[in-house]
Amino acid sequence: MQDLVNVSYDTLIPNNVDLSSDRRVLKALERWHPGYLKWWNDLGPEGFQDSLVYLRTAVSVDPKGWTKFDYVRMPEYRWGILLAPEVEDRRVPCGEHCGEPAWQEVPGEYRAMLRRLIVIQGDTEPASVEQQRHLGKTAPSLYDMRNLFQVNVEEGRHLWAMVYILHKYFGADGREEAEELLRRQSGSAEAPRMLGAFNEETPDWLSFFMFTCFTDRDGKMQLESLAQSGFDPLSRTCRFMLTEEAHHMFVGETGVGRTIQRTCEAMNQAGIEDPYDIEAVRALGVIDLPTIQKKLNLHYSLSLDLFGSEVSTNAANAFNAGIKGRFRESRIDDDHQLAEATYPVVQLVDGAIGLVDMPALSAINMRLRDDYTRDTSGGVRRWNTLIAKHGVPFEMRLPHDGFHRQIGVFAGANVTPAGELVSAEEWQARRQEWLPSAADGDFIVSLMQPEWRPGKFASWIAPPKVGIDNKPGDFEYVKLEMA
Ligand SMILES: [Fe+2]
Ligand SMILES: [Fe+2]
Repeated sequence: MQDLVNVSYDTLIPNNVDLSSDRRVLKALERWHPGYLKWWNDLGPEGFQDSLVYLRTAVSVDPKGWTKFDYVRMPEYRWGILLAPEVEDRRVPCGEHCGEPAWQEVPGEYRAMLRRLIVIQGDTEPASVEQQRHLGKTAPSLYDMRNLFQVNVEEGRHLWAMVYILHKYFGADGREEAEELLRRQSGSAEAPRMLGAFNEETPDWLSFFMFTCFTDRDGKMQLESLAQSGFDPLSRTCRFMLTEEAHHMFVGETGVGRTIQRTCEAMNQAGIEDPYDIEAVRALGVIDLPTIQKKLNLHYSLSLDLFGSEVSTNAANAFNAGIKGRFRESRIDDDHQLAEATYPVVQLVDGAIGLVDMPALSAINMRLRDDYTRDTSGGVRRWNTLIAKHGVPFEMRLPHDGFHRQIGVFAGANVTPAGELVSAEEWQARRQEWLPSAADGDFIVSLMQPEWRPGKFASWIAPPKVGIDNKPGDFEYVKLEMA
């Protein structure tokens, strides 16, 4: 009998889905594997493919001990297929089939919708690896370099997770979609990735930290709602992906936090009290807080666009079909069908921003975005505690949801970070107060000097409080001499 918790490493592809007795899917995945490795080598981390990296690999889906740390060359990472254990007697948690047994096979009437959701999720996974491929060269420490590569290999595994579902449940068109996932490329003119934020550049490490903090957190929210799917294999896949995703957001939140901390320490040491004395702060070799705020504004607003339009028929249909739930659907105390319920949605009414009660079913995206904003604000609060502890008079803020948006109610509206509607001219004139300018970007890039001695950190970032896997401060997380 297959072991549903521990992972079988006897096939080329580690898994807990009994691949060895599923010849058709095993064959399909083995055929896909070389293309994946080629993609990893061509578009994955640039350089360092021969270095030994201290990485965790999932060896179980037992929440108490699912991971093993060891030195691995990235191309030899064991990308596996892991589903969280089946929940006994699981039911469709929402929509018109609410309470019926969860589906173990794709329900025919929802096949196209389900496939599209899986492909969109799958497309984001390799995209971020592509976006981050140049960063190894400017890593501010071996600790950070290791974290980058950990995130990268796990996004690679998340691609595997979605490709498994496509191969197993979607036949010929699933195979085709799996090929397409390797063909599209972040930022490509002819075959870009599907979502806007995944075609943006990640030019420096602060962008990487902001991305993992804000954009990976959108990923978390999407996975949370797919983990509520009535299509059980998708739910189980996403539940396990969420376990890994937590580390990605840790990397982002603490990365920004350590950047802020270093800035505050340097200001204290130099006796600079005014956080807006940008030139003086930058002369210390750290990133001034107003520029960090601008990066936050950029990444938060790009990430909000990933939630789609506030009012959406697609989202309503997916919820109603029971293939995508709300954040923590099973813990919400209502009828899970939303036939009569309403939800307050932001609207532009008579030239003002207001909340209007709309049918809750069509406001699913808005609700998930609100949950995201709440989830995000905890990190911002922790950054502010850190700034206050250093006595620096500055507060990081999430910008208003209407600021710098391309999608939904606020697309094309000229909203300031404080939530005021202004004229297009005023918005453009003040743009550089709110979003990083080319000069800000150049300054940040100028600080991105690699620091690869064990236990050392670049000028602009503080060391972490504790090491990965409780390793000491001077631990050699990446063995570069192997390169
Ligand atoms: Fe992911
Ligand atoms: Fe992630």
